[in-house]
Amino acid sequence: MTTRILGIESSCDETAAAVVADGVKILSSVVASQVDVHRKYGGVVPELASREHLRQIAPVVREAIEQAQMRLEDVDAIGVTQGPGLVGSLLVGLTYGKVLALALNKPLVAVNHLEGHVHAVLLEAHSTGRTPRFPAMCLIVSGGHTLLYRVEHPDQNSVAPFSYARIGGTRDDAAGEAYDKVAKMLALGYPGGPVLDKLAVHGNPDAVRFGSTKIRSNPYDFSFSGIKTAVLYYLRKRPELQPEIAARQKVLANGQRSADELRAFSSSTTLDLIASFQRAVVEDLVKRTLAASEQFAVRSVLVSGGVAANRELRERFEDEGKRRGSEVFFPSRPLSTDNAAMIAAAAFARFSAGERANADLNAAPHFPLGLTSTVSGD
Ligand code: KG4
Ligand code: ZN
Repeated sequence: MTTRILGIESSCDETAAAVVADGVKILSSVVASQVDVHRKYGGVVPELASREHLRQIAPVVREAIEQAQMRLEDVDAIGVTQGPGLVGSLLVGLTYGKVLALALNKPLVAVNHLEGHVHAVLLEAHSTGRTPRFPAMCLIVSGGHTLLYRVEHPDQNSVAPFSYARIGGTRDDAAGEAYDKVAKMLALGYPGGPVLDKLAVHGNPDAVRFGSTKIRSNPYDFSFSGIKTAVLYYLRKRPELQPEIAARQKVLANGQRSADELRAFSSSTTLDLIASFQRAVVEDLVKRTLAASEQFAVRSVLVSGGVAANRELRERFEDEGKRRGSEVFFPSRPLSTDNAAMIAAAAFARFSAGERANADLNAAPHFPLGLTSTVSGD
């Protein structure tokens, strides 16, 4: 018998709902993005995000059910993101899921958003037939997170949920946040990742040298605020770049522009800076993740989250992974960024293991995944 789970996700600035059958088959996946609302602020404004979720949640859930060609009464369970995320945003999806579960008399399953990102890779793997082997090292890299987890799957044939050990994380900015802030300094719009990714191919990645941040206490921790500040100082020292920044600001004030349009307003110095910034971030992510994979003896590498959509990151991981004998897995691009299919897939594993949430389920803005590093590399 097929188990169809309705997943609901509202942890940040995407209102999403999806129906997934047996944790592997996506019957529908609807994402209402709020980028247009937050664009003029250059980042997510929490109060506006909650308000938008309130407007979007009912139509998004309805659309997901319609696209899956079913009725709400036909779902077997509801999976909702409990955290981590913005509390006001989380509460909208969580409350909606709770009320639906109560009204329809369906089981409710609480999902950790980060576990959702792990399942995004597995959803993709199921559709391609190429499955990762466990234990795996998972890099979750988005606008809100840069985290490394060692993921154990106790028995590939069992429904027992995975277990996680935190290996490292960012000390300051998340990688996606650094992309967004650098794009803001350069007047390249919001979100920064996709546009910087497209412009980076037109610059020389060796033009500007950004030193790698040394973190003594844990070699698998990340830090991206240094590189962001280095970009700021680079720009301060080059007043000749100000007119083009002002020109881009002006065109953006008239509406969103494509990367190609913005490129027409960008000098080779700017394109070189972007290519060098991207190279430094990508190298750092790839290097630390693969070093951790070797140290903690895993059998595959999973990369998920918004930044996993990055072209150079995918290429570098694939090339370097091959060279070092690590098999690397990514979700498709739509599954890399926040979505509810990954939440429904993660809910399925927990639902099958008998987990149920109570009516007193509350949002957990700092919900950790697994324990702090308890795995020994020896
Ligand atoms: O996972 P996500 O949709 O939301 C959370 O932050 O949880 O990730 C969005 C982040 C943004 O910071 C965005 O700039 C970044 O992912 N991003 C990218 C790319 N596409 C999205 N960063 C680098 N390269 C990309 N192609
Ligand atoms: Zn996310």
